[in-house]
Amino acid sequence: MMAMGLLWVGLALLQALETQAQAQDSQQEIPVQPAFVEDKFVGTWYSVGLASTFPWFLKKKAELMMCKTVLTPEIDGTVNFTATFVSNNQCETRTSLLRKTQQPGHYVYKSLKWGSEHNIFVVETNYEEYCLLYTTKTKGNSNFNMATLYSRTKDVRPELKERFIRFAKSHGFTEDTIVILPKTDQCIDEN
Ligand SMILES: *[C@@H]1O[C@H](CO)[C@@H](O)[C@H](O)[C@H]1NC(C)=O
Repeated sequence: MMAMGLLWVGLALLQALETQAQAQDSQQEIPVQPAFVEDKFVGTWYSVGLASTFPWFLKKKAELMMCKTVLTPEIDGTVNFTATFVSNNQCETRTSLLRKTQQPGHYVYKSLKWGSEHNIFVVETNYEEYCLLYTTKTKGNSNFNMATLYSRTKDVRPELKERFIRFAKSHGFTEDTIVILPKTDQCIDEN
């Protein structure tokens, strides 16, 4: 009887551990900027570096250019993330509303249109110059990851590019999935 009881306890424990492991897997505990301050983080950023396993990215990589992203806090507490970029020689904008999580510096965005969920982690930032983001995207059973370097200005110090490449590699991105985006004036100079 006693042995039976212990066995059940053991099984229940194992199951609990397994569930926890799965949760961590999909959640991917990514460390964020300590003492993150959203007010200092919002504003305009230029995307300078990108590493991704998104299939579209690997196909389009050579054509991608720097884009401008404006982050604005909304009254309801979300952060309006609006990116402007060149597509087929036209300017396009895309807005995502990022919801805060319990952890400052970790945001969630769900796309109803694409049926995907994105987790965005502000891994490192000095607010005035650069930030490193790590994004996971889940769609059905597939997972894609992305690492990005954003800069307050269109030009960045070479050391920051190096820092970004090391950051991307530390998350398992290989050389062929990392790109430093060429600078452009198209679409990102208005207002
Ligand atoms: C998000 O911000 C852009 C400007 O950056 C604005 O045009 C758009 O209406 C905003 N979207 C929402 C849902 O607030």
